[in-house]
Formats: sequence, structure tokens, C-alpha cells
Amino acid sequence: MTLVSSTPMLKEARKSGYGIVAFNIHSFDMLYSVAEAAAELDAPVIIQTTVGTVQNLGPDSIVKTARAAAEKFHVPMALHLDHCTDLDVIIQCIRAGYTSVMIDASMHPFEENIRLTNQVMDIAKYIDVNVEAELGKVGGVEDNIVVSDKDAEKAVPAECKEFIERTSVPTLAPAIGTAHGIYSGDPDIDFDRIAEIASLVDEPLVLHGGSAIPEDDVKQCIALGMAKMNVSTELKNAYSEAIKEHFLEAPDSLDPRKYLAKAKDVAKELAKSKMILVGCAGKAPEIKEKAYSNEYKLDSLQV
Ligand code: 13P
Repeated sequence: MTLVSSTPMLKEARKSGYGIVAFNIHSFDMLYSVAEAAAELDAPVIIQTTVGTVQNLGPDSIVKTARAAAEKFHVPMALHLDHCTDLDVIIQCIRAGYTSVMIDASMHPFEENIRLTNQVMDIAKYIDVNVEAELGKVGGVEDNIVVSDKDAEKAVPAECKEFIERTSVPTLAPAIGTAHGIYSGDPDIDFDRIAEIASLVDEPLVLHGGSAIPEDDVKQCIALGMAKMNVSTELKNAYSEAIKEHFLEAPDSLDPRKYLAKAKDVAKELAKSKMILVGCAGKAPEIKEKAYSNEYKLDSLQV
């Protein structure tokens, strides 16, 4: 099975009350850590890259590698472009084969956010590509997008409803108190706000800043309607720390196969723990049946 749009899997997750993790990967090795984690747990998964990673690895190579992983591991897998502010990059990634894109116009006033999101929807609604937009402003640093604590702003529930009505965007990331990066204390998540947004919006909601949120808080967010949880910093740190540890222990051991294999395993275990936390372990067969049965039937005809 090849890469699929994330819309059906996220709709199914929201309906059934569990989450699907979207992992930011920075290398092909990290992509395989996540794909193998999904395969070992029989879980649906979203692989995502920032614009920086698109520039670093190239959209065509990322798509080819992700497609090969989806075909090898037979789990529902989407490839998503995270936090993109540039329509040209969005078009480039869709052309290359990304199955999901985020237009992040959250730094603009409400009306401009709607206009820019609609530009992307005008393209994506004719093809099988998910679109994600953000309302409010998630704090912290993601690639070259920096939002200070002072500028972070929670989403207004009535605006979330109006935004969906005027854009038909299939997934919405409302800022609700989480931030990108590791927190100095516990995050100040506004659960009442999530509940109010979820009561007004049927679409799957996206939890940004998924690293290092206390487990019970993650579970509560998912139960309230957050169907996608983004994890970047924790995965990147686990992978890099494993390499650092290797060189602290054995500074002269310069075989990349040794230190990369170790880093890949550590990242895989971290990915598995997040999938178990949001409740998507073991959900691949159900998702294939309920959300992608035509794709999988076609797939088996081709084999
Ligand atoms: P973290 O870096 O906190 O995991 O956030 C990831 C994210 O939300 C990417 O969009």
C-alpha cells in the first residue's frame, strides 16, 4: 500500500476516540525508525517534515523513501508537510507526492489566515491531499518559525467554527496552551477550551507541541477530540543523544552503521511509546478496513 491522505485516518481516530502521532523526521534513518515502530505495533502513522527538512533532503527523495516504507510495512501511512508559510513549497511538495500539507498562516489576522488557507484548499480539494491550518499562535520554536511566550495566543472557539465553515479545511490545529520544544515547567493546557472547540467543530483537531506533555494530559486532550499529536523535539533529542552517547563511550568508533543503528533503535522505541500513549497501537487493520478499503483492495490486486 502506498502513501495515503491523512484525512480518513484522522476522521476515524476522532470518531473512535484515539489519536495518531505525526513524527517530524530529519533524516531517512529517522523516517525508518518511525515506520518500523508503526509496523511493529500495527499502527497508522503520519511522517512529517518541516520546510527546512524538505530543503535539506529534497521533496522527491523524501516521497520515494516514505512510499517505499509504506509499501514495505503495509500500515496506513501519510506524508505531511509541517508549518509551511509558502504556497510555492506547498505546491512543490504536493507535486512530489506529499499526501498532507499544513498552511500555517496563524501569524496573520483572521481574515488573511482564511484567505491563505482557501488558496491551498482551492488546490487540495480536487486531489486526495489533507490540509491542516492553525488558529491562535502556538508558542516556541519550530524550524524558522519562532513565537515568544508573550506572542503565543490561544484559539477562540467561535473563530474555529467560523474558520471551518469558510475554508472547509479538514483538520484544524487550535492553539490551546502547548508549545513547541521542551517545557521548563508543566504546560498550561486549557482543557475547557479544547472541549468547547470540539463541541463546535466535528473535524479532527491537531495537538501541536506534543513533546514532554505529561501522559495524563495527552490522554485528556485525545479524549476531548485531538486526533493528531505532533512530536518533534523528543524524537530528535532521543536520536541525537544516542549518537552523542556513542561518541562519549567510544570516541574512536567511527562506523556510521554502529552509531546510526543505535540511534535508530532509540528513536523507534520513543515512537512506539508515543503510539501506545495515544491509543493507536493495533489500529492499522481497523483503519484499513474502515477508511481505506478501496486503496487496500487495489493494492492486493497489484501484488
Ligand atoms: P514538539 O517539538 O514540542 O514535539 O512539537 C512538534 C510540533 O508541534 C510540530 O509541528
